[in-house]
Formats: sequence, C-alpha cells, structure tokens
Amino acid sequence: MSLPVKLAVFISGSGTNLQALIDAVKAGKLSARITLVVSSRDDAFGLERAKKEKIDTFVFRVKDFPTPDKAENHLTTILDKYQIDYIALAGYMKMVPARVIEKYRSRVTNIHPALLPNYGGKGMYGHFVHEAVLAAGDRESGATVHLVDEIYDHGNILLQGKVPVYANDTPDTLAERVLQVEHQIYPEALEKLIRGNIN
Ligand code: GAR
Repeated sequence: MSLPVKLAVFISGSGTNLQALIDAVKAGKLSARITLVVSSRDDAFGLERAKKEKIDTFVFRVKDFPTPDKAENHLTTILDKYQIDYIALAGYMKMVPARVIEKYRSRVTNIHPALLPNYGGKGMYGHFVHEAVLAAGDRESGATVHLVDEIYDHGNILLQGKVPVYANDTPDTLAERVLQVEHQIYPEALEKLIRGNIN
C-alpha cells in the first residue's frame, strides 16, 4: 500500500481525537490523508472540525435505511468510492458492521479510554469507564489503541499510555488527563501500523 494511505475517521462526538489525527498529518507525523469522516450523529462537533479542514463527511445512521443490510451496503459503497485503506474509530459509539471489519481486517483501529483488557466491553465507554476506574479505587488508568475485531474492545493492542489517578479526581478530571494521552498515542500507533503494513 503506497503512502500516504487513505484514512477514514469514524466519530460520534466532539472529535478531539480526530483533531489530533488531523494535526499529526499536518505535522508530517502520520503518513495518511484523511479523506472521509463518518459520523453516527448529524450534530457531532467533530463534523465541524472536518468541514474546517475541507474533509468530506458522511452521516451514517442505520435507522435512515429500510434495513440494516441496506445501510451496511451503502457504507461499504462509500468506503469503496473513497478507496479507503484504513479506518480509525475516534469516539465512535456504534458497532462497525461485520462486513466492514471483515473487509478491512487488521486495518480498523479504535481508541479506548482505559487500560484494556480492563474496563472494556459493551457499555464501557466515555464517562462510564472513568466512573468505574474511580469506583474501583485504581491508582492508574490510561488509554489503549487496538485493532478492531467482531468483539467489543477485544482486538490486538497496538499501544497504551498510562496516567496516574489522583484521590480527588472526578470522572471529568480523569477523562481530561486520559484524553491528553489519547491524543499522543493515537497518531503514533496508527503510524506504526501503517508503516508495518507496507508491502
Ligand atoms: C475518547 O475518550 C475515546 O477514547 C472514547 O470517547 C472519547 C471521544 O472523544 N471512546 C470510547 O469510549 C469508545 N469505547 P473525542 O470525540 O473528543 O475524540
């Protein structure tokens, strides 16, 4: 696969990780062109970030289609049209259709706001993760970049970054600290993956 690879970033919210990827590309630290941003919501702030950078966007909601099958067909058609090489989930809160995972095997990544395999799985996302870490009294948390397979938060781990947990942390203060690490390790992990896969 020739560099820069064509990258689609999937979001559902603020898109600060998307921004970190955009910035890494601009800084020459990520050998990718972000050619498409897919959002599961039409009100995700990350869409504004994409538009500012003149990146094409696509709001993908299964409920807009007569059947899930038709929705998935449409998504794969769009990914084909953009000749996407890699997919980075960045705060994407929906399950990626199985046929997309299958087609992009080992080329779909996710960032999770905890040290997997701890605090992963269905229902463990966003603030729920940080609440669980605080409730358990852990002294350390962090973020994990991993490959995506058919099971939630399960694929091979590419990179992790750790942060301390302080006694006076709230889910918000912990989330903020973890997010800083996410922004560092996501571009780094993707670059590693992309470069390791050159044929
Ligand atoms: C990030 O903390 C990301 O790790 C988390 O959602 C946030 C999105 O922030 N993802 C998950 O919990 C996935 N299980 P962002 O929209 O600002 O990048």
